[in-house]
Amino acid sequence: MANDLAQRAPDYIRAIAPYQGGRPIGEIARRFGFREDQIVKLASNENPLGMSPKARQAMLEASQDLGRYPDGNGFELKQAIAKKFGLPENTITLGNGSNDILELVAHTFLKPGVGSVYSDHSFAVYALATQAVGGQSVVVPADPKTLGNDLSALAAAVTPNTGVIWLANPNNPTGSFLPGAEIRTFLKDLPGSVLLVLDEAYTEFLSPADRYNAFDWIADAPNLLISRSFSKAYGLAGLRVGYGVAHPDVTDLLNRVRQPFNVNSLAQAAATAALFDEDFLKTSYDCNQAGLVQLTKGLEALGLGVMPSRGNFVLVDLSTRQPNAKPIDALGSKVFDALLAKGVITRPVGNYGLPNHLRVSIGTAAENEAFLKAMGQVAQTLWP
Ligand SMILES: Cc1ncc(COP(=O)(O)O)c(C=O)c1O
Repeated sequence: MANDLAQRAPDYIRAIAPYQGGRPIGEIARRFGFREDQIVKLASNENPLGMSPKARQAMLEASQDLGRYPDGNGFELKQAIAKKFGLPENTITLGNGSNDILELVAHTFLKPGVGSVYSDHSFAVYALATQAVGGQSVVVPADPKTLGNDLSALAAAVTPNTGVIWLANPNNPTGSFLPGAEIRTFLKDLPGSVLLVLDEAYTEFLSPADRYNAFDWIADAPNLLISRSFSKAYGLAGLRVGYGVAHPDVTDLLNRVRQPFNVNSLAQAAATAALFDEDFLKTSYDCNQAGLVQLTKGLEALGLGVMPSRGNFVLVDLSTRQPNAKPIDALGSKVFDALLAKGVITRPVGNYGLPNHLRVSIGTAAENEAFLKAMGQVAQTLWP
């Protein structure tokens, strides 16, 4: 009976391989007999400083009124985003994490016969969101030097059946980055029937020299959506909140598909306060820059390759210690398992087509140090 029911789900749903997130601290503590405070988690590109104190205060105040539904239109949060970035409110869609925005895009613009295009080694949700609505994914080769997005390969893959292009900048899990001007030119050349989703989940970590303002492009690009997250630099991953910025016509459609109360009251209050906590943002940026240097130097001293990263994580090339490694050697999984046993959670990226790499989120100085120590021991055992 249950089987008959499962058979009625569309083939494309039954074929979905579930998202693999970072292993939770509690699970690893139980499995290896650690206390939770002994675990170092560098697996999900979270903010190692936690959340802004102003956001925490706002969240606590909002917790007094949880018997009521949230504001379904997110008036205050939208106003705050509009004010901070000089945007009309009718260009903003709020999401239960920016993941929600990506799914709203898929529900709105994709269907069987209308698919999406993205690069190899792109964020896993692009494939999932496309498949969940029966769209076809076209995955183009990455730039072999950066392992990141190759704009000409993406442009060449567009057909009349393309509904969406997913482009993360900086990209996860590679950390690679494309200058804003290149993306602007790419967008100008795209057919107006294709929506470019510019996923800027990590944009707050860009150095001033790399920053660009894609919000300025919306006015003359009705086929652009920019997604942003409060989970990374703003430190609100557990609350689930993000937003999309697009032409009012696109925004109107997304809001028809959106669940009425998709962003909860605590998340709305915390995000509104976090937006204007510039001190916390600056401290998070500085911590990330320092951690990036610390991890890069430490890993290189162990003879490991580190891809240049503009995000809050690094992609480590383990094959520099085993140059003849084949994909089947799955060095990423081996090192991930060995680090787990030492209480350090990282992220293997075999499911991103990078079996001999490991992604490591940038932590506090102490967390980075603990990871480097464990990594040194693992390297010594694997490659004496
Ligand atoms: C490139 C990219 N986009 C979007 C997300 C989703 O973030 P969230 O739903 O927490 O805003 C992530 C999370 O890791 C990401 O790496």
